Amino acid sequence: MKNYTRRIVVTGGAGFIGSHVVRLLVNKYPDYRIINLDKLTYAGNLANLKDVEDAPNYRFVKMDICDFDAFYALMQEEQVDGIIHLAAESHVDRSIKDPFTFARTNVMGTLSLLQAAKLYWESLPEKYEGKRFYHISTDEVYGALELTHPEGVACDFSAHEVYGDDFFRESTKYNPHSPYSASKASSDHFVRAFHDTYGMPTIVTNCSNNYGPYQFPEKLIPLFINNIRHRRPLPVYGKGENVRDWLYVVDHARAIDLIFHKGRIAETYNIGGFNEWKNIDIIKVVIRTVDRLLGRPEGADMDLITYVTDRAGHDLRYAIDSRKLKSELGWEPTLQFEQGIEETVKWYLDNQKWMDNITSGDYEKYYESMYAGR
Ligand code: NAD
Ligand code: TYD
Repeated sequence: MKNYTRRIVVTGGAGFIGSHVVRLLVNKYPDYRIINLDKLTYAGNLANLKDVEDAPNYRFVKMDICDFDAFYALMQEEQVDGIIHLAAESHVDRSIKDPFTFARTNVMGTLSLLQAAKLYWESLPEKYEGKRFYHISTDEVYGALELTHPEGVACDFSAHEVYGDDFFRESTKYNPHSPYSASKASSDHFVRAFHDTYGMPTIVTNCSNNYGPYQFPEKLIPLFINNIRHRRPLPVYGKGENVRDWLYVVDHARAIDLIFHKGRIAETYNIGGFNEWKNIDIIKVVIRTVDRLLGRPEGADMDLITYVTDRAGHDLRYAIDSRKLKSELGWEPTLQFEQGIEETVKWYLDNQKWMDNITSGDYEKYYESMYAGR
């Protein structure tokens, strides 16, 4: 067995954020063995990692995180010392239709990984020394905030001084509303319980909405880019007034790398962009950008905006205070939103084959079932 300095399993590495994390680690650390463990659900796509699939320090393993025996065997075979856990069912609308799948993967799957890691690491002479279980979670576990400041205003790191206590902090009490966020909250509790009960070296991070290349087109930004391209209606839930805090996915991957290496054990770190947008405002930016890049008159596709029945239990506003991550580890987002959205739209338009491959087959059935009757 080659003498790699670290042996890390990234779960969910074929998904949106996971593929950026795998790419970053494989390229940045040739002396690390990076094992991408993914079940390849509808959201997993090995085409996301074409550029690193032949790297000598990379291995893909098709596995369900709920398969305890298979994961325990992989831990032994690869002598895994680090786990970066991203595999999950991740779409709120799907969780409303099918909550059981979310409980199975997000809760039972996380517990299965934790228990297998515990048994393997505790069997070693050095036990938990040099080990790490890093769980990637979401800001949605905190619930929803009110619109108490001018929503849609892109904030900076001084916003807390202006708007007071109006952000999710690491100390904010969990208050999940959707089956998705309830399942993620539950998995976060299990991870912390494995530290508190067994001394496992765990870390949890809670991040805001990500955007960028390779996101499955059921999420707002890639869905709308693709619909504008095909001049299909853009289903805006409710009045389009919900607010999200958007972070470029590569900045999230950089944060994950930093926290995996330098974060303090048993800590929670919030990751966000201080970049809040009302949905309808971000949608208008996306429409103008797609139009311009496709050579259509800017704004010509505004008439595709179609207000539809609101999402059940739709959280009004998410906003993250990530000052702890900045002050402890020096992280902050690198990309301005205007630049990030321009690059993102350009990427989807330049990679139409990637999009067309995903949106052929079962996707159309999914799309119709999601939007039928709205
Ligand atoms: P995604 O849906 O794009 O990818 C999820 C990946 O997990 C897919 O590759 C899928 O095949 C895999 N997977 C699903 N079930 C599995 C199972 N049972 N066993 C093994 N693999 C399985 O999700 P994403 O947007 O990349 O999110 C990744 C993680 O980050 C999730 O844990 C999510 O909760 C969290 N997160 C996402 C965002 C966001 O904006 N997308 C924000 C904060 C946190
Ligand atoms: P989404 O990308 O599903 O992320 P999340 O629900 O995790 O925040 O949705 C982002 C916002 O966009 C959310 O407020 C719901 C809204 N939305 C629409 O208005 N229409 C859509 O078709 C989708 C997918 C989302």
